[in-house]
Amino acid sequence: MRISVINQKGGVGKSTTTANLAVVLARDFRRRVLVIDWDAQANASAFLGLPETPAWGNTNLVLEPTRGFHPARDVLVDGLDVVPGCPDFALVERQLLGDLLTGPRRLRRALEPVASRYDIILTDCGPTLGMLAINAVAACPDVLVPIELAHAAALGALTLQKFLVEAQSNLEASIRTLGVLPTFLDDREKTPREVLGDLSRIFGASLFTTAIHSAANVRDAGGQGRPVVLTEPHSRGAEEYRALAKEVVNRG
Ligand SMILES: Nc1ncnc2c1ncn2[C@@H]1O[C@H](COP(=O)(O)OP(=O)(O)O)[C@@H](O)[C@H]1O
Ligand SMILES: [Mg+2]
Repeated sequence: MRISVINQKGGVGKSTTTANLAVVLARDFRRRVLVIDWDAQANASAFLGLPETPAWGNTNLVLEPTRGFHPARDVLVDGLDVVPGCPDFALVERQLLGDLLTGPRRLRRALEPVASRYDIILTDCGPTLGMLAINAVAACPDVLVPIELAHAAALGALTLQKFLVEAQSNLEASIRTLGVLPTFLDDREKTPREVLGDLSRIFGASLFTTAIHSAANVRDAGGQGRPVVLTEPHSRGAEEYRALAKEVVNRG
């Protein structure tokens, strides 16, 4: 399965979801997992305890593939490899735009020789719908969309759908929505529950049954470089991410 975790809005839980899902899939589901941190902010890398400015970065992966593919191996748990993010990555978008013919498929091409080593590849996208996002969905066409349960969340999701339809026809890739993941659920507040109802009407069966509650331990674990599924494996957040992993595996 090749999954892009994508939403052009920042702060909706993409990187947190990528980190937790990756650990659960590798440790509990015994899948061989590759995370590609496809964001100059390198949050997913940080949430998995990898340094902010690693010597290796995924810039090489797409711009100089001949340098080879050197992910960090067995990160936090066995079977989880990570191609870390790197601030220089902000420059890659422009360079890829200079090559409109192969630019959109660089990541797909770079992954071809190594894809068979992994059961699941998870690409954590940054908050844009530019050339990097195109590369992500071309390489990883199973789209997982975290959506924050806040007002107007559905509007952004509809923009994303337009992007995906366009990408689908331009790339001749069979992009499909693996699932929409509601995040920042708060049972005490009215808005998240209302928005959850809206999302259910809009996305129907695409909506995951699992929603991720807003929780301080989920946030704090990320800041410590260890996802909550490792720091507090019996907490509600950890259980929610295990339930999500189960849904992902079943849908794959
Ligand atoms: N379930 C959650 N409850 C509380 N805070 C969260 C939760 N998930 C993520 N966060 C925090 O929200 C912020 C944005 O999350 P992040 O995963 O980086 O989003 P994105 O990758 O979409 O920008 C981070 O500070 C993160 O620690
Ligand atoms: Mg992020």
